[in-house]
Amino acid sequence: MILRENRLNKDLILLKKLLKYFFGGLILLAVALAVLVYFLPVRGPIIAFMTGDQIAPPTEATIGDHFTVPEGFNVGIFARMQHPRVMKFTQAGDMVVSSMRPGKVVLIKADRDGDGASDGQITLLEGLNAPHGIALHGGYLYVAETGRIIRYAFDSEAGAITGPQELIFDGLPQGGGHFTRTIEFGPDGMLYVSIGSSCNVCIEEDALRATMVQMTADGDDVQIYATGLRNSVGFDWQPGSGNLFATDNGRDWLGDDTPHCELNMIEQGKDYGWPYAYDDKVVDPDYGVDNLDKVAASTGLTHGFGAHRAPLGIRFLLAGLEPEGYEGAALVALHGSWNRSTLAGYKVVSLHLAGDGAVTQRDFLTGFEKDGDVIGRPADVVQGPDGAIYIADDYAATIYKVGRAGQMVAANAQPAEAHKTGLESLSTADLATQVALGARLYADNGCAACHETIEGAEKPAAKKLDNIKERFSVETLSELLASPPATMPKFTLSADDRKALAAYLLTQE
Ligand code: HEC
Repeated sequence: MILRENRLNKDLILLKKLLKYFFGGLILLAVALAVLVYFLPVRGPIIAFMTGDQIAPPTEATIGDHFTVPEGFNVGIFARMQHPRVMKFTQAGDMVVSSMRPGKVVLIKADRDGDGASDGQITLLEGLNAPHGIALHGGYLYVAETGRIIRYAFDSEAGAITGPQELIFDGLPQGGGHFTRTIEFGPDGMLYVSIGSSCNVCIEEDALRATMVQMTADGDDVQIYATGLRNSVGFDWQPGSGNLFATDNGRDWLGDDTPHCELNMIEQGKDYGWPYAYDDKVVDPDYGVDNLDKVAASTGLTHGFGAHRAPLGIRFLLAGLEPEGYEGAALVALHGSWNRSTLAGYKVVSLHLAGDGAVTQRDFLTGFEKDGDVIGRPADVVQGPDGAIYIADDYAATIYKVGRAGQMVAANAQPAEAHKTGLESLSTADLATQVALGARLYADNGCAACHETIEGAEKPAAKKLDNIKERFSVETLSELLASPPATMPKFTLSADDRKALAAYLLTQE
């Protein structure tokens, strides 16, 4: 009895000691943070009137200086629009594009006058929650928001929505992490949806996370088709074989070159490893070690793009319309890295799949990043009925057209509409108040820690905030802060706080 009490006493003393160290550590951390915040270079608000501010379209010279395409192709600007992501051609040859940040779906009209650029655009839908995946099927336009899939009767010839909104499925996971939902109809007429993980690496609670799901065109018979897919933003079926291939973004924080972003051949019921394994059955240091059975049961990659390349859209070229040398090839948009000491990705590549399963990767359109200078980030790629290749760039708010020799491309396109930041209507005094509040929120929330390289610091900024006022408005920035990119923490901010932060960011050089 005495002995046990002694043990208890000892345990208590140990616990007290541990608690002391714990709180001591916490206090030290708080002091260190306070010192850091105190010395942060909070940039004074630079008040500028931004009336008439426009997105500077990439100029003919920029395109010439930066882009390289294979012999026999040329590149031009097809259209300009906010945050273009997924593109689909209609029967009539127009393009339906999701405009994710502003929450819209836009019709980009075909180039019927033959000058190489789109003939104009119409907003089809607005007020949506991060619309990403779109599909045209059975006379309907399907749209995937973060939490649900909806559809509208759509008349291709008129380029117009002709019916009310119909809810197809509203059980997609909401909340943090990867929030884009991609949809495609398979050769079997079923609707497929890819749903990314809620985190970088973790064990998911929602069974639909990190999967691909299959359902009927009416949203019935929902079932999980494949699992272990961290974030498969693009997928497509290979003509001929009917095999389904998906891109997948590999996890972060294992260094510059680990693990690969993947191309996977998706088969029903298979598991592609995340979060237990990466590449081909390599044990993940965080979750694989205690789950070796899951590692062993996983399916390895078909092709590695390299680490942090961020492959998003993938499309096989249309049978019969492939340029010479591209028979059976797929094109993939590599959005580009952030979790890497030097930039990589930032280009469109072609994948050539041999009969024996070997995959050869070739550059198709390079130069979105050149010597550290980023002029764009490709998000999706699609071949038009004219055989030309169209590339959505959500960073430069541009849809590029890569034409074959003899095909007209536009050297320079005028912005669809003048870029407005949304600050134009504020009085000088109101703007100053907003910007001052925004500067305080920026400092209080420690935004600089990830977005500015602090002088003398060893680590560079995770992500430099560049050209914010050319690319965002109060509306789109507020939306970004409400549902930040997967790799950025979510802050508790009121709608007014988000507006003030946006005003601050939009008035910085
Ligand atoms: C822990 C690091 C971290 C913190 C803190 C952080 N961010 Fe971020 N943020 C990121 C990363 C990483 C990205 C880039 C994500 C990507 O490209 O996928 C990002 C992206 C952004 C973007 C979009 C940039 C672009 O060019 O498209 C904005 C705007 C932004 N952050 C604003 C803020 C603001 C305002 C705060 C403070 C309230 C903040 N961030 C705090 C990590 C952080």
